[in-house]
Formats: sequence, C-alpha cells, structure tokens
Amino acid sequence: MKIIDKNGLFIIETENTHYVCGADGTGLFRHIHWGKKCAPDSYIKPVVHGEKTSNVPGIDVSDTEYMTFGAACTRTPALKAEYPDRCRETLLVYKSGRITEEKDKITLEVTLEDEPYSLEVTLCYVVRDGFDVIERYAKIRNGAEANVLIEKAASAEFCLPSKRPYVSTGLGGSWVGEFRQTETEVRSGTLVYETHKGTSEHAFSPCFILSQGATEKSGEIYYGALAWSGSYKIEINRDFSGTTRALIGLSDFDFSYILHPGEQFVTPSVFCGYANSFSDMSNGMNAFAIEHILPKRFAKEPLPVLYNSWEATWFDVNSEGQQSLAEKAAAIGCEMFVMDDGWFGERSDDHAGLGDWYVNPVKFPEGLGPLVRKVKSLGMKFGLWFEPEMVNPYSDLYLAHPDGSYHYDTRESSLLRDQLVLNLTLPEVREHVFDSMDRLVGEYGIDYIKWDANRPFSETGAENLENPRECRLRHIRAVYEIADRLKEKYPDLQIEACASGGGRAELGALSHFDMIWTSDDTDPIDRLEIQHGYSLLYPIKCMRAWVTDTNRDVRPNDWDFRFNVSMQGSLSVGGNLLKFTDEETEIHKKYIALYKSIRNTVQFGRFYRLADFRRDTLYATEYVDGDKAVLFMCTDPCSFFRDKFYHVNFDGLDKDGKYTVTYGADKATYGGDFLMNVGLDFEMYGTLASKIIVFEKEK
Ligand code: DGJ
Repeated sequence: MKIIDKNGLFIIETENTHYVCGADGTGLFRHIHWGKKCAPDSYIKPVVHGEKTSNVPGIDVSDTEYMTFGAACTRTPALKAEYPDRCRETLLVYKSGRITEEKDKITLEVTLEDEPYSLEVTLCYVVRDGFDVIERYAKIRNGAEANVLIEKAASAEFCLPSKRPYVSTGLGGSWVGEFRQTETEVRSGTLVYETHKGTSEHAFSPCFILSQGATEKSGEIYYGALAWSGSYKIEINRDFSGTTRALIGLSDFDFSYILHPGEQFVTPSVFCGYANSFSDMSNGMNAFAIEHILPKRFAKEPLPVLYNSWEATWFDVNSEGQQSLAEKAAAIGCEMFVMDDGWFGERSDDHAGLGDWYVNPVKFPEGLGPLVRKVKSLGMKFGLWFEPEMVNPYSDLYLAHPDGSYHYDTRESSLLRDQLVLNLTLPEVREHVFDSMDRLVGEYGIDYIKWDANRPFSETGAENLENPRECRLRHIRAVYEIADRLKEKYPDLQIEACASGGGRAELGALSHFDMIWTSDDTDPIDRLEIQHGYSLLYPIKCMRAWVTDTNRDVRPNDWDFRFNVSMQGSLSVGGNLLKFTDEETEIHKKYIALYKSIRNTVQFGRFYRLADFRRDTLYATEYVDGDKAVLFMCTDPCSFFRDKFYHVNFDGLDKDGKYTVTYGADKATYGGDFLMNVGLDFEMYGTLASKIIVFEKEK
C-alpha cells in the first residue's frame, strides 16, 4: 500500500488496485481512475471539459470526487449547503493534499475550499496494509463566523470507468426476508436505495454493488458499504454519455445540520473497493471487517455457541423455567445463555414494560441472581435482552416522562408494536438509558447484551434541538455512544445488534456491536437465501444463526439440514429444549461438538459460494483455513426426482496439498488440485438432504 502525490495528482495504491484523483487546472477535484494498476507515470492530470451543448454544461459530465450544488452543475450533488447570506451554492476549489503514514494505514486528506465563505471540505481516503478496501469519508468545516446550513452531505461520490451499463446487486426485502438479492441493470436514470425510517432497516442494505460480467470467479465489481445505522441514501445514476456514478451517505430527507462557526461535521465512512469476482469482494470485506471494523476486544475471538430463549418461551419467562432451559443448553454444549424479551417491568406481551428496566418481581421473585448464578455454575456466560431506545406508553417511564419520546404536541403519536421511540437527543434520556443498562450489567455481571429496536421513527419532533432535523443523525450517534460507554466500562461485554431481526445489519452497527441478528426468519430454507445475501459484504462470524423448531410442521426438514444451514455462520440454538426427545438432544449435542471443531475455519477462514439455488439444484459453501476445509451441501427444496449425484469443484485449497476426509471407518485422500480442477461427486437423495464434510490437510 502507498499513496503517491504527483503534484496534486494522487495515486492511492492498495494490494491490487489503484484509485487515482487530482485537481484540474481550474481547481476542480476530479476522479481519474479506479481499478487495475497502471504504471504511476501513465496517469495524467485531468483535462477540463468545455460546454458540451448549451444544455449540457461540461461540469455535468465531469468525473468528480465530490460534486457540489453550484454554478452550472445540474446533476445530483454530494454536498448542498446554504450560507448565512442565503447563497445556496457551494464552489469548492482544491487547496491542499496531505498524506499521513501510521503503522498499518496511510491517509490522504484532500482539502477543498469555498474561499469566500471559509468553508472547507476535506475528502479522506484511508488504505490499510494487505487489503483492497479503501475507507472514504468527508469532513466539512465552517471557518466563518456565522452558521452554515448543510442540507446534504454524502460520504463519497464514485465514478465508474465503463460506459456500458452496470448491474446493481441490491440486498434487501423486508422483515423476515432480509438480504434477498436482486439484480437491476442501470441503463438510464437513477436507481435509489434509501430509507427515511431512522434505522438502517430491512428493505435495503446500505451498500452498492455494481458489476459487469461478474460471477463467483470473474468479472469487474465496484462496491461500497456504508457504516451507518440510520437513514441513508444511495443514488446510482447513468447519464446520457454512459457514465455511471454512485453517491452514498446520510439520507437528505427531512435532514439538515447547522454547522456552527469553527465546527466540523464528519460523515459516516464508506468502505469501498474494486474486485475481480464476487468471491474476492466477499473475502476481502470479510477479512477487512475482522481486522479493521469490528470492536477490537472480540474481533479475533471465535464467537460462543449461544442459546437464546425467544422462540422457546416468548414473553413467558421466569426464573425456574429459564434455569431448566439453561441446564439443557449447557448439557448440549452451549457456551452463552441469553434470556430474551419478557423479564422486566410489567412485560407479559409487547404492549407494556419497555423503559422499565427493573426485573419483574413475579417472574423473578429473587431478582436475576438465582438464574445468573445457575447459568454461570453450568459453565456458561449470561446474556440479557434490552430494547433501550424504546418505551411503551404503558410503562412507569412514560407516565413519569411523557415528553421523553419523539412527538408533536398537536399530533397523536403513532404506535408501532405499541411502542414509541425515545428521544435520545435529550441528554437526560441518554443518561437514563445508559444507567438502566449499566446498573443491571454491573449488578449481575452480565456478559452479553442483545440490543433490539423494533420500530422505525415517527413524529420526529425534537423541540429540544436548535434544529430538529438533526434528530435522526443525533439519535444514531447516541446509540453508538451508549454502546461504546458500556463497552468501555465493561471491556468483556459483548453486544449483539438486532432490529426486528436484520434491521440493523450493516457496518455502522458492526463498528460498535460485536455481531448481528440477521433475521427473525429461522426457517432454514429461507435462511439460506438470507445468509447468501448477507455473505456478499458482511463478516460471516458476526452472523448469528439459530437452529430452531420453527416451521417444522409447515415445511418439514430434519435437524441435520437445520444445523447444516446455521453452522455456516455463528451457530446458535433457539428451540424449546425442554420439549426435545433424547434423540433430538443427542443430535444437538453432536452438531454443537462438530461446530466447535470447525468454527475457527467457518468464522475466520476464506469462504466460497460453490453452488446456490438460483442456478443449481444444490446449495454449497466451502470454508477454508490453513489446514482445514469444510464443505456444506443442501439439496433443492423442490426437486424430488433428479440430481441424485451432485458434482462439486472446490476452491481456495492448496493445490499441492493432500486433503483427507473421513467417512465413518473409511478414509480418502485427494490432492488439492484434484479437488479444485476435477472435483467430487456426491450422492444425495431427495429434497432437503444435507451433508457436512470436513477435509484435513496433511501436515
Ligand atoms: C425482535 C427480535 O428480532 C427477536 O429476536 C426477539 O428478540 C424479539 N424482538 C423480542 O421482542
């Protein structure tokens, strides 16, 4: 990695790529190249485009790094601001570039200035050793003596090189249907992925993936994933000249920010890259997130096998029942016991209790002590569910502080799941939320928090703010601040991000929380699609995946299939263990033990999507680290009569290595090159059959 400054032309070099930008003769900061490396001397300063036609100013079709609203530019800008004299145009001119080198990263800060207004915009590019991922964000500084109103501030703008259309891969859907992959060819106009909901939510993942001819093994892909857990906007546009551009950052809907004199506004980061296959993109981002995005304490530790009570006991939790579950969970090998919703306030269903973070005295007459002691005596850690940002009107907290949630005095507040969103922009509300969690974590030695958020924002009145349009931004900053404070005070505390399943499954959450609850859909067939979409950009180890008894009557499939699917992420268990037969308990035990023996490979290895149901009648993934390769296979839910034989070509193995696989009493050894180039046939019968095969490399 290095960054070269050729007199105001910057070559950002990652392991395998170049990102090149520089100022032209007029001071406009332009994009020059992103993709394969060229000889550094071959890059030339950008030329200034003149007027194309009287209707198309040259600036509109220029490749820029951060277009602003101003002058003759009519294309959607990255930045829009209003100055105190009511001028609503920003004209940025290149001022300086600064390169700073630290141990394992190099940062380029390009400062642009709107001189008459002393507004500085610094575009930041950070590269890290060994990766092709570039972190980009912008800093906006008001050097004048009066306020500036920012109306839009994207994290970054990207110009793509090919004039042919790109295919945009979208990841999203809905609650219980997250991360479903869609492909849209962007031929003309603008494709927008946006949410105003306040949370990053289920409908789209805050990222772009733009490709040409891409497969798991080939093609050209440009991608960027935003690290932000609130409202965001991604705009992908192809103009009449064929250029595709992408803007990514905070949503500008019902948003503005008052930038006070001397103040600096920093946008969320976007992690972006160029890759030559989906596999390279995913593996690059997976390893990068572990190394540079996740909170450090647990980033490189394998995640424990967790038991979660939600689908077993719903709101009906009590000390005795949870202790019985905990005994069973420990007996099958779980390492963490998480009690989900229902333990606090007057919570018997979802209409009451949120905000009252005291232990329900009827369900837990002696507090949580007996349960926590039991869990710990069984050798497990203890986790607890919270929904810290919310309040039920039916709660002591709401009765005492009806103004503590977002609202307008003249409007009736909209209830969703019978709850309201707390106004975390109020310091006393933030403090209350922190104190409530701090008190319980401290008192009971809680090891793990599941942090849930089950509704979007509405009636976003925040009269306490000078500018209420900042509330969504400030709210998410407050969420991060509370999580960070808890982690600072309790360094061994793990926190899982959840928002009605995968409503907060993105890199902003993963910069502050240790893992993600990807979806409330635990049906294993649906789950394969959700996991597949998630795996494109997000780290495998953070994907909590429960084996449950859900849908077993509606769409029957065996435990082997269920474990096969959940073991492809961070294995967790959620069935009602108290109702299991001995045989079911043994199956759980067997698979949890197997998972423990392969989890380093799954959570930290390279992984390959070898086959999927959209193209094949088999779903197959492979995980590889130094000495081990694990193959997961599941057959198609629909076809009964064909494909008894499935052929799999492996990937990512040492071509000169010898890999041994054990089938009961038999052993077989194959060369890495054979497994990859010739492959193996597997016999599997019927729908939803599954196999997990572990290959050990000979030393
Ligand atoms: C939504 C979550 O996604 C579930 O896992 C569970 O925690 C419920 N909320 C509890 O209310």
